[in-house]
Amino acid sequence: MIKYKVLNLTYKHMLRPILFSIDSEKIHDIFTQMGEGSENFDWLLESIFSFNDRGLNKNVLGVNFNNPIGLAAGFDYDGHLASVMKHIGFGFNTVGTVTAKAYGGNNKPRLGRLIKSRSLLVNKGFKSEGALKVAQRLDKKRLNGHTTGISVGSSNLPTINTINRAISDYIFTFNTFKDREYVSYFELNISCPNTAMTESFTTPKNLFNLIKAVTELNLKKPLFVKMPSEITPEQSDTLIEIGLKKAVRGYIFSNLVKDRGNKFFVPSEIEKVNNLKGNFSGKPTSENSNKLIAHSRKTFGKNIAIIGCGGVFDANDAIEKLKCGADLVQLITGMIFEGPQIAGDINSHLIKKYVHVKYS
Ligand SMILES: Cc1cc2nc3c(=O)[nH]c(=O)nc-3n(C[C@H](O)[C@H](O)[C@H](O)COP(=O)(O)O)c2cc1C
Repeated sequence: MIKYKVLNLTYKHMLRPILFSIDSEKIHDIFTQMGEGSENFDWLLESIFSFNDRGLNKNVLGVNFNNPIGLAAGFDYDGHLASVMKHIGFGFNTVGTVTAKAYGGNNKPRLGRLIKSRSLLVNKGFKSEGALKVAQRLDKKRLNGHTTGISVGSSNLPTINTINRAISDYIFTFNTFKDREYVSYFELNISCPNTAMTESFTTPKNLFNLIKAVTELNLKKPLFVKMPSEITPEQSDTLIEIGLKKAVRGYIFSNLVKDRGNKFFVPSEIEKVNNLKGNFSGKPTSENSNKLIAHSRKTFGKNIAIIGCGGVFDANDAIEKLKCGADLVQLITGMIFEGPQIAGDINSHLIKKYVHVKYS
């Protein structure tokens, strides 16, 4: 649609050069404040950004999604934008990752841009205001008709230093949100590579114990496990089989990448961040994500629901994920690089190019 082309060009050529000349975290905070301030102007946001068509509606694991394009965990980590993302065109929005205890985030700098590589360097380490505060904020928002998910992780604090403590910490957050009507789905983040207890829940035994504890809560809403990116298909199968044993049917492929040798990095850019800690989003995540989606769909068929996440910058990237077998798609980096019209733009293409042909 011409409207989205104009919005995209305006963002890329006029707004983005200014935004990208300012510290990433400062800009994120300003946008969050402005976004939250605009939550009562839903009609205006909808008319500028959103694209609505019933043909885009989808039901996945019993949850209704207005369209298949969602905001991934990590952008709206404290839930300020929960009632806004739908109005700028997203079919769903994950708040978080939320942790039980508040954490101010890893030392700065913890966000960076690799513009030519179309990637962000991320080392936030679960910055969170804590589950209770986030829940109190969301309680006050009008979330009827929104599809809101909560991503749950364990607090990134020195006291959470054993598997059992981490499990109790996850459970606190699930308990905080489990009876809140506005929660449509949960994400179980086992794959944040930026925390002190690095990836400890990606081993089969630990994952089994975590999933066992979570499923014993009898959540009324579906659970999606957020999978690591740099694992083999066989390792991924093992984790999914553990989930399926406990009837967990949702999987998200995938999280950030660590490998600085990833072929999508422009060498001069990756060298510049050599001395910085962190992991990467955007284009370098796309190939692993698509491979794991395709493999998992082939292996597990319709027994699992898949959200494809990683390196979606336009409708073609989203369609690639859907063709690989994803039911839904999430993004963050694409919105930062292409502009806030991205969900509406992708949906306007999906309705023409994809849904009528192949949308199950
Ligand atoms: C700034 C930033 C913060 C993130 N924080 C989280 C997080 O808290 N929890 C999580 O599950 N994923 C987090 N992620 C990973 C994203 O959800 C997503 O898996 C990854 O960025 C790939 O998608 P993208 O290429 O569309 O950004 C974060 C990503 C970015 C860019």
